[in-house]
Amino acid sequence: MRALVTGGAGFIGSNIVDALIARGADVVVLDDLSTGFEENIHPSAELVVGDVADPGAVAKAVAGCEVVFHEAAHRAVFRSVERPIETDRANVGGTLAVLVGAKEAGARRVVTASSSVYGGAGQMPTPEDAPICRGPPTPSPSWPASTTAGCSGSFSAWRPSCCAISMCTGPGNGRTASTPPSSLCS
Ligand SMILES: NC(=O)c1ccc[n+]([C@@H]2O[C@H](COP(=O)([O-])OP(=O)(O)OC[C@H]3O[C@@H](n4cnc5c(N)ncnc54)[C@H](O)[C@@H]3O)[C@@H](O)[C@H]2O)c1
Repeated sequence: MRALVTGGAGFIGSNIVDALIARGADVVVLDDLSTGFEENIHPSAELVVGDVADPGAVAKAVAGCEVVFHEAAHRAVFRSVERPIETDRANVGGTLAVLVGAKEAGARRVVTASSSVYGGAGQMPTPEDAPICRGPPTPSPSWPASTTAGCSGSFSAWRPSCCAISMCTGPGNGRTASTPPSSLCS
């Protein structure tokens, strides 16, 4: 199987790349290295350096891929406040470009990362049907990307899957410019 992992130089993406390669997949990474680092990428993966919001870069990376894991995003809240246009382009435009590119390339499945959609939930552990929190106190820059995947009518017959990742830590955390060191998360 050939798989594309966007954001494969980042924390979540690089762990997905390692897991796919351990299962025998051929893996392509599409990453602009804006917060991730090339050294995070498994040496057996092919790297395409490019922007997920660029349809040409997506088309090049997704060619021949059966499945796509979309993890490229700017997830730091402060960065999204300081650079809203750049954040929106990567998170919303990027997600749409990946969905369109994957559909055109004939990929059978796209799995996107959601943001931390539950905010400061009152119930722990938080059930998946808990109310969604879109605003303060925890605005999430990648929330619109998950809704893009879920709501766009163009994809209604080809439903992307969306994984709600919650306060994740582990190997590789702290190796990108947007993730805190794991010692802070323990
Ligand atoms: N880490 C967590 O605990 C957590 C929790 C919930 C949701 N998520 C979501 O998972 C996804 C990945 O998070 P992460 O922690 O791995 O972040 P990260 O910053 O470690 O990795 C993101 C990667 O995307 C790349 N990237 C950013 N903009 C790009 C663009 N325009 N084109 C190509 N590549 C680009 C970066 O260079 C980086 O390698 C995000 O959508 C995030 O919201 C993460």
